[in-house]
This record gives sequence, C-alpha cells and structure tokens, in this order.
Amino acid sequence: MKKSQNLALALGAAAMLAGLCAPAGALEITLPPDNASLKPSTLPGYQKALQNCIACHSAQYMQTQPALSHAWWTAEVQKMKKAYGAPIPDADMSEIADYLFQAYGAGRGANEANAPARAAAHATKTSAPARAAGK
Ligand code: HEC
Repeated sequence: MKKSQNLALALGAAAMLAGLCAPAGALEITLPPDNASLKPSTLPGYQKALQNCIACHSAQYMQTQPALSHAWWTAEVQKMKKAYGAPIPDADMSEIADYLFQAYGAGRGANEANAPARAAAHATKTSAPARAAGK
C-alpha cells in the first residue's frame, strides 16, 4: 500500500469517528407516554403498590380494569398474594386496596378536583372517553 493511500484511510477513519461522535450531544429522543407505571398519588398505598404490584407485570393490568368496587380491589390484592405468591405484608393490604380503588376503581376521579393538573394530564390518556361516559 502506498503512503498516500494510508493517509487517505486514516483520514477516512478519523472522519467516520468524528461523524459518529458529533451528533451524540444533539440527539433528542421522545419516548411514548409511560403506561407501564402506576398513577401517582399522595395516598400511602401508592408507594406500597409500587413496591408490591409491578414486580411481575406492568401497571397495564390495573389500567385495563373497568371501574370496579373497593371489595373487588381488596379481593384482587388478596388473590395476588394467595394465588400468585406476591410477598405483600398483611399490614399493607388494605392501604394498597384503598389506593387502587381510588386510582383505578369506581373511586377514581374522587381526588382530582383537588389536583387540576393531574386531571388535565389524565384527560389526554386513552381512558378518558370511558371515564367521561361514567364507566
Ligand atoms: C408474584 C407475582 C405477582 C405480583 C407481585 C402481583 N401480581 Fe397481579 N398477576 C400475577 C399473575 C400471574 C396474574 C395473571 C396473569 C395472566 O393471567 O396473564 C396477575 C394478574 C393481575 C391482574 C389482572 C386480573 C386478574 O386477576 O388476572 C390484576 C388487576 C393484577 N394482577 C393486579 C395486581 C396488584 C394490584 C398487585 C399488587 C397488590 C399485583 N397484581 C401483584 C402475578 C402477580
């Protein structure tokens, strides 16, 4: 190989490296809305649900339920523990059910009068029409 060819190769490699590195700082990635996590809440059961309810499956399992009763959510939390072996402390069960009932059950929306920003954020989600229809 001639010297000039070597130089050309080296320059080419340098240009490629520069090309690879330059845009890295400028890249912007917009992720889709994160539906995998639980709806934030100030209720104590929210933190406990984060710890106990999304280890095996995503929060989509909760999001896709219709507006069910408090009794249903209580039974659901018990089912996760007894049937599927979720290691949920007994002392936390009822707070988790309270949170789930208010975030996803028939009690949803009850707190949103006090949190307009959150209500507005929810309005853009796919569950909005079902909620508007009173389901
Ligand atoms: C040990 C693993 C595990 C944990 C932890 C767990 N789940 Fe589940 N969950 C499952 C399994 C397994 C299914 C059934 C999966 C399927 O049918 O595809 C399920 C299904 C569900 C469903 C769908 C309806 C149903 O009954 O099948 C909901 C709602 C749900 N879980 C809520 C919760 C909640 C709330 C918590 C926290 C209290 C929780 N899960 C914690 C394993 C778990």
